[in-house]
Amino acid sequence: MAQTLTVTDNRNGKTYELPIENGAIRSVAFNQMKLDADDPLDHGLVCYDPASMNTASCKSTITYIDGDRGILEYRGYPIEQLAEKSTFLETAYLLIHGDLPTAVQFEKWKHDISDHTMVHENVKNFIGGFHHDAHPMGILLSTVGALSTFYSDANDIFDPEQRRMSVNRLIGKMPTIAALAYRHSKGFPYNQPDADLSYAGNYLNMMFKMLEPRYQPAPEIERALDVLFILHADHEQNCSTNTMRIVGSSHPDPYSATAAAIAALYGPLHGGANEVVLRMLHRIGTLENVPAFIASVKAGKERLMGFGHRIYKNYDPRAAIIKRMADQVLSITVTTPLLDVARELERIGLEDEYFVSRKLYPNVDFYSGFMYQAMGIPVEMFPVLFALARTAGWMAQWQESLLDPEQKIGRPRQIYLGKTRRDYVPMTERA
Ligand code: CMC
Repeated sequence: MAQTLTVTDNRNGKTYELPIENGAIRSVAFNQMKLDADDPLDHGLVCYDPASMNTASCKSTITYIDGDRGILEYRGYPIEQLAEKSTFLETAYLLIHGDLPTAVQFEKWKHDISDHTMVHENVKNFIGGFHHDAHPMGILLSTVGALSTFYSDANDIFDPEQRRMSVNRLIGKMPTIAALAYRHSKGFPYNQPDADLSYAGNYLNMMFKMLEPRYQPAPEIERALDVLFILHADHEQNCSTNTMRIVGSSHPDPYSATAAAIAALYGPLHGGANEVVLRMLHRIGTLENVPAFIASVKAGKERLMGFGHRIYKNYDPRAAIIKRMADQVLSITVTTPLLDVARELERIGLEDEYFVSRKLYPNVDFYSGFMYQAMGIPVEMFPVLFALARTAGWMAQWQESLLDPEQKIGRPRQIYLGKTRRDYVPMTERA
């Protein structure tokens, strides 16, 4: 079977044969399709793809998604198996290094990460400068950006040792900064990291330890949080990962690029959705209000947050895992009437023609908020936890992009539809 695509330009009858590689054609191949081949000002055709609906921006070996079949794999391992058998730290190693670690490699990795959980005292002072009700996502993105001023050597991004240090520092410090943002908002003293606890357990310790000499997280909560981190660790070329890659393509230090990725994640259509889902449920309040809410969604006045996905058009496998886990976690924590509202929204969403015809299913953010809430984590921290876990994926994708010889500084084209050239008119002569 020929791996080519034949294109006829009906403007001039010319035919072109474009190679197909890995199921893709190169957009630059359209440059040769000119109306007049001799005109140096004719730059040929460009591909117009707002929101990158059908444009691959990179080759990657990290995460595979089949949205129609609801498949998500990290480095070939199904998300269901990782959620059942792995830990977040092991999964982070897998994403960054490409394979699961041996026992020796894992011990070193754990040690390297926990070695970097502390932050400079000036980072704490920096956080202390935020207003008490500052959104923790704003604190996280500013503080991660500020880390670049603490590690000036990190600019040397083509030195493998500098990259390794940055990756370890970011994965190690993210829970610390997240917890500091929360403690600051409460006016509580900051807690030190505890190297004897797991990654998730240490985060809970830094969040919630009060006067007890040693904080011991409930094992069910600790495991559930770790699984949530696994589920959020990577998701191929989503908005924030694409930001990490495109900002990284101009070769700044990784702290600056990660701050940009956090900003991209913050929006309610992406990682901010988990927070907005809970706020939406609070607004709906009771089961009686559900029909009016659904009517308003169907009238196009608002969105059912936590539903829909650009890639998953069958179901989001992460949501399925969370839903199963939610029953377990919620059985040992306080229940909330909002869960009934969520279940009713889900029931309607899975049956109603509006949602079915548009292939809108619950996504990862629909139930994750309940889990976080049941763990006592305040709603504004939900996107922070998404960012904390996604840092593993951002690091893997950033490194892959830097080392890809085909990558250059990202620079999309545009279709200019503005005014044609005109002369400047002095203000006194303008109509
Ligand atoms: N509620 C109601 N209608 C929706 C929703 C929704 N949540 N999502 C999409 N639609 C409708 C949309 O109005 C459009 O209808 P029509 O064809 O009549 O104009 C159709 O479905 C297609 O929507 P789209 O906006 O073209 O889809 P998209 O692929 O650009 O958007 C999305 C994907 C996730 C941004 C969107 O589904 C959405 O806004 N969902 C709610 C926010 C959310 O839960 N985000 C978390 C995503 S998962 C976590 C992550 O990875 O970030």
